[in-house]
Amino acid sequence: MHDEQMTDLERLVLSRRRFIGAGALAGAALFLGGGTLGRNALAEPLAAARSRPLLGFANVPASSADTVTLPPGYRFRPLISWGQPLHADGAPYRGDGSHSAAEQLGQFGDNNDGMGFFPWPDDPDRALLAINNEYVNYRYLLAHGHLPQSLEDVRKAQAAVGVTVIEVQRKGGEWRFVQGSPYNRRIHANLPISISGPARGHELLRTAADPQGIEVLGTFQNCASGRTPWGTYLTCEENFSDCFGSSDAGLALTPDQQRYGVEHASVGNDWHRFDERFDIARHPNELHRHGWITEIDPFDPNSRPVKRTALGRFKHENAALTISRDGRVVVYMGDDERGEFIYKFVTRDRLNTRDPRANRDILDHGSLYVARFDAGDGDPQQPRGRGRWIELSAGKNGLTAERGFASQGDVVIRTRQAASLVGATRMDRPEWIAVNPHDGQVYCTLTNNHKRGSDDLPVDGPNPRANNIYGQILRWREDGDDAAAGEFAWDLYLIAGNPVVHPGTPNAGSPQINADNMFNSPDGLGFDADGRLWVLTDGKYSDSGDFAGMGNNQMLCADPRSGEIRRFMVGPVGCEVTGLAFAPDYRTLFVGIQHPGEEGGSSFPDHQPGMRPRSTVIAITREDGGVIGA
Ligand code: FEO
Ligand code: CA
Ligand code: CA
Repeated sequence: MHDEQMTDLERLVLSRRRFIGAGALAGAALFLGGGTLGRNALAEPLAAARSRPLLGFANVPASSADTVTLPPGYRFRPLISWGQPLHADGAPYRGDGSHSAAEQLGQFGDNNDGMGFFPWPDDPDRALLAINNEYVNYRYLLAHGHLPQSLEDVRKAQAAVGVTVIEVQRKGGEWRFVQGSPYNRRIHANLPISISGPARGHELLRTAADPQGIEVLGTFQNCASGRTPWGTYLTCEENFSDCFGSSDAGLALTPDQQRYGVEHASVGNDWHRFDERFDIARHPNELHRHGWITEIDPFDPNSRPVKRTALGRFKHENAALTISRDGRVVVYMGDDERGEFIYKFVTRDRLNTRDPRANRDILDHGSLYVARFDAGDGDPQQPRGRGRWIELSAGKNGLTAERGFASQGDVVIRTRQAASLVGATRMDRPEWIAVNPHDGQVYCTLTNNHKRGSDDLPVDGPNPRANNIYGQILRWREDGDDAAAGEFAWDLYLIAGNPVVHPGTPNAGSPQINADNMFNSPDGLGFDADGRLWVLTDGKYSDSGDFAGMGNNQMLCADPRSGEIRRFMVGPVGCEVTGLAFAPDYRTLFVGIQHPGEEGGSSFPDHQPGMRPRSTVIAITREDGGVIGA
């Protein structure tokens, strides 16, 4: 961080500190909107919410149209789309996949996902948005529309993933992307990134290119994210193993490679054919250098990102931050694979609200825990039970040297194996986690799991349905309302389903799911300042069979007190709706439209003949300028 920026960051944290000191739950300072919560931004929505119901918009019907559909009185604009030039001298987007790898390095990346909004501390009309670019659509990224056929193709894909930081400015009430801002930056798959925490220097992280195991090239498969109270962005590496493959088709995969899902042919990327770094037959340790949470300072375009290995290595979905009763930072995290786990990390040190610089390395020291859920009461509509956090520290809970966990580096590199060893509960694909700013309860989407109910993965507690094709939203309350607690009470806040196709069965879903608001595969999740719960879907959009009447992927909004849920937005054809961030006044909502037309049939957002569809961040506002959702 540059010193001249520290004043701004200090102010940012100070404003948060005033808010925390006002008696609200500390975690309330950390939700989607912005850092100016201590100022006026929060007061108005809360005051407004007291006098009327939380959900103030009309439910949107399901749709299979190739557009964004919103309630009456709402509108959207594309903010930025894949291929848009970031810098003043950038080549205009051509729309035919013909841009070079070098050009892509200066353009907005593909498949935008999680986002973080960073207000300018002393200018309400300026901000930075950090936006994940999870993976690429080769069908549209490359002119030939197929998997990479050359190193140049691979380099273009590597230039299109990672994170994009952009400046946005508000003019006439509308936030706009600022092409040419010196803060605009691509953090891609070949950028040098430091390794910190217990795995730094570990022998499993050492490679020919980095014999010390302290610096890695790049971040990719960046799914969702988190924002820290000290003004940085956490980007979460999810399906990293998809990018690796083996030049030796007969190579026997190690238990670690198998556990993390590596396939000889790679999973839809083929980078290893042209870039030997991704060939596990030649560089097996490169795999261990990914699957981490990487921290970025968006306000310093020259800063080097840092992989924070204390948070564990798995297929990270997002990072939901809150503060414990004694002032430590707590990070909730899901591992999105069938039968994987839910984690939390509690820092050793307390958050320093006076000096942001003092928190720079706070995520390097602390304890990692994994969740174990009991069988619950078996209530078919809203099961509930108890659970506890099991510490994943070398030397504790059976994590011994004899079992391969001689050091904490061993534990965090092989987090999944450590969690299995201590008896964690295998979940239905944990996706996003969000903390309710009003009561500290934690919500987690369990998106679906068609293998649930098999011999290997029986139904249990919070994963109660065999062949779970619809998903559910899990909730827990930490004992003593303390995020650092060792135990918690859980329930299923919502079970998705189709009450029209499957009435009177577990696949009808929760009572509040009906023909007008049904959906499948909840994924993205977040709260606004008033306490509305926003749910984004990444599911089947066939609108037929089990999914009849659900339409395209969508965004819903729930009142966590009453349980009511309404459809707020429907995305275009073939997209996933993922990634959300609010401006600090909650009058603009940024939402990600990822891979429209992934299987064809979309021309979003350009709707021009010959133009390929492209992933896009949209900005949603109200025609009357009001608070979104109210
Ligand atoms: Fe990138 Fe689990 O979604
Ligand atoms: Ca997701
Ligand atoms: Ca998903």
